Amino acid sequence: MGSKFSKIGFVLAVAGSAVGLGNAWKFPTLVGQNGGSAFVLLYLVLTLGVAFVIFLAELSIGKLSEKDPVNGYKTLAPTNKKTWSMAGFTMLGAILIVSFYSLVIGWVVKYMYFSATGNLSQTLEESEKQFTNLLLNDFLSQFICFSLIFLIVFYVVSKGVKNGIERLNVWMMPTLFILLILMLFYALSHTNGFSEALQFLFVPDFSKISGTSILEALALAFFSLSLGVGTIITYSASLPDKTNFITSTLNIILINILIGLMMGLIVFTFIFEFGANPNQAGPGLIFISLTTLFAKLGIVGYILGATFFLSLIFAGITSAISMIEPFAFYLINTFKMSRKNALILIGLIVYILGNLCILSTLSITEFKILGMSFFDVLDYISGKIIMPLGGILAAIFVGFVMKKKALEILFEPYMSGVFFKVWYFFLRFIAPLAVIIIVINAFK
Ligand code: PFF
Repeated sequence: MGSKFSKIGFVLAVAGSAVGLGNAWKFPTLVGQNGGSAFVLLYLVLTLGVAFVIFLAELSIGKLSEKDPVNGYKTLAPTNKKTWSMAGFTMLGAILIVSFYSLVIGWVVKYMYFSATGNLSQTLEESEKQFTNLLLNDFLSQFICFSLIFLIVFYVVSKGVKNGIERLNVWMMPTLFILLILMLFYALSHTNGFSEALQFLFVPDFSKISGTSILEALALAFFSLSLGVGTIITYSASLPDKTNFITSTLNIILINILIGLMMGLIVFTFIFEFGANPNQAGPGLIFISLTTLFAKLGIVGYILGATFFLSLIFAGITSAISMIEPFAFYLINTFKMSRKNALILIGLIVYILGNLCILSTLSITEFKILGMSFFDVLDYISGKIIMPLGGILAAIFVGFVMKKKALEILFEPYMSGVFFKVWYFFLRFIAPLAVIIIVINAFK
């Protein structure tokens, strides 16, 4: 990425990467499918105890090497440089993610269009039909919306991440936040649904937790903070000096959790208020619940809906950009490719994979691998295999391979000695072990 971010630019870029459809789409869906509160609690514990710890490890690799993931590992490894550089290739996981992620942003585009043209359904059943119809039968809309997002995302990356993102995020984040607060107030006025949603999200019931749901919570914590696929390493390579990155990281994590919880409260209030089952709607949960809400509000709802979906599109785009940059940065550094050529190559892969995702959910072409659609396969491999692997490798590398002295110098201005010791201990022992146990437990 070359030059450095401005201080606020770095925070905005990382927050822009973290906040996205993970909060608005994955979080409520997974909470619904995994029984609510106990899953939320697990997610919070894993975010602070594992993801936060690994986040700082990835940040250290980026900041100390000022390189892309592959060259970053290579530069910092005292020995076995070639072997360690392989760990950087977990960044390819982000290319898998951006392929299906851009399609989901495409669905949001379609819903913005539905809102703007007053085409939302009044009942949950109708909304559910509308969503299934988009996925099963409407190739053209998905193709157009996906292609549009694809072009925008690659256009912004081609202009250089720093300029593009900084301007976008300054507006996008506050708008999304204000809209969420407005919607939360409206949710509050539906006392029954709201109190059921509160209970569903915050009164833990551990009977619903299984090995697979623990892995889901871990994968969500990684996904939500953009970990394990090179994004944080790459953005931290441009972290300006003398930035208190501990406070920045904590703020980003807090905002990220807050937005997820607000989304969850809003979505579930209306799911309960309209008498639906939180577990049934699947990936369409937010589209189904929120559109019904917007439709019930009439003209105000349509305006609110269109603005809300627009800000989600922006949130998604800033995340998608951060998935492409690591691989682009690597190609530019290693093969001296021009940014344009690197992006043409990556674009080709993403465009093909994305279109395969569309085809894989259509009822006429539906193709499955081991019973999963191609869309779900990409989601599964990236989220449950590559991200945890990338996280463990970063933890082991920073905890056992890199020189401790360099870390102490990096952290000293912003972290007390005790805090450093606790972090270092978690990094070496707790985080990798937790990830390994969770993954093995889910697969056994
Ligand atoms: N953190 C993003 C979200 O929650 O929507 C998704 C994401 C961004 C995942 C960047 C991975 C990544 F590298």
